[in-house]
Amino acid sequence: MTLNGSEASVEIEPSELLIDVLRDRLRLKGTKRSCDVQVCGACTVLVDGLPASSCSTLCADVHERSITTIEGVAKAGKLDPVQRAFIAHGALQCGFCTPGMILAVKSLLELDPHPSEETIRHYLRGNICRCTGYVKILEAILDLVQNPSRYQTETQ
Ligand code: FES
Ligand code: FES
Repeated sequence: MTLNGSEASVEIEPSELLIDVLRDRLRLKGTKRSCDVQVCGACTVLVDGLPASSCSTLCADVHERSITTIEGVAKAGKLDPVQRAFIAHGALQCGFCTPGMILAVKSLLELDPHPSEETIRHYLRGNICRCTGYVKILEAILDLVQNPSRYQTETQ
């Protein structure tokens, strides 16, 4: 598979879940495990650009697919605009939901660079945050959508 832009090869058992391969074999601990039953979104990764619950995805099923984890979002040591917007708006507390949330937002903005608040709420319905009440998360995304230039540089 392609993992965060590079070829990755790992020998697996047919029953191994993607989350276990990412976290335990490849040591990519940014992908979080919580519900384990495809409800909370903490384990979200992107498969060919679309969100997928790695707790419910067989690793064998993503053979020759492109996987993005939170570790692949920042480029050349620079945070992604979505990450900068979350930081600027204080859109995280414990941070447990944040990797999955940021990957889901990145996927949404690829599909629709100017989503409405309703569209954002709908797209993120599978990502549960136990801390923020979602207000800051929505503020961050809407500000990024309306003022993208604010988040293009590392100083923002
Ligand atoms: S841990 Fe996968 S959806 Fe909750
Ligand atoms: S910031 Fe704690 S679960 Fe979202």
